[in-house]
Amino acid sequence: MTMRRRLVVGNWKMHGLCAQSAALARGVREGARALAHAQGSRAAEIVLCPPFTQLSNVHRLLVDHTEQAVEPAGEGASGQVRLGAQDCHVGSFGAYTGDVSAAMLADTGASHVILGHSERRLGHGEIDSLVRDKAASAMEAGLTPIICLGETQKERDSGQATARVSSQIMRSVPDGFSGVIAYEPIWAIGTGAAATLDDIVAIAAPIRSALREHLGPAGDGVRLLYGGSVTPKEAPGILALDAIDGVLVGGASLQIEKFLAIAEAAGQA
Ligand code: PGA
Repeated sequence: MTMRRRLVVGNWKMHGLCAQSAALARGVREGARALAHAQGSRAAEIVLCPPFTQLSNVHRLLVDHTEQAVEPAGEGASGQVRLGAQDCHVGSFGAYTGDVSAAMLADTGASHVILGHSERRLGHGEIDSLVRDKAASAMEAGLTPIICLGETQKERDSGQATARVSSQIMRSVPDGFSGVIAYEPIWAIGTGAAATLDDIVAIAAPIRSALREHLGPAGDGVRLLYGGSVTPKEAPGILALDAIDGVLVGGASLQIEKFLAIAEAAGQA
């Protein structure tokens, strides 16, 4: 079996006041260090994505200045948990009341940003071209975009899932993309019914082909995550799939033990 470093992303969504966020961040920080110690270079790379208001708070708790000074290029190998946001505006600065730019996210210490989540596509009318432009602007600011895509139940039932995700790749992923794709079937998000391993393997192939078609050989280097009702129960099977490089976790990322159990499984995959 090939040895690949898995990526585990916690999407807190609209959860987290100061005290709860601090407790979660501390718990994950300590757990990640223990996993790095126990699992070494196999330990998963972990990214926490709190709401905008908690980015600085969480960043302060995640950064260990002593360890960073000793191991600056560790990229998580030292158990350093990284910070991500859940959205950004397409512009850098300007008269956009209520918006936050990628440059501002980078300034808080974030290294990643989730884009095109179905809760933004559906709840805020975000279309593929906007997601693509946001991803380009995130890369320009030095962030790693995590572009989400996935089909609805109706599209799945009518045999349109492959066409849907392929078109989302073509339209939402900018040229020269260096980032992560998260396949999140909408019917599996927050429902407690994760996709089966067969479902995931079946859709991962056309996603990978669309990435190759769109980006050329670079498409092979894009990491592909699965998201949608991931818990410690399903995680080991999903993370053991060759086609999958990690998971995007919503609900279970709000519970330290569950999230760390998923991260542990990722280090064993
Ligand atoms: P869930 O959310 O794990 O609660 O299903 C996943 C997501 O929306 O990213």
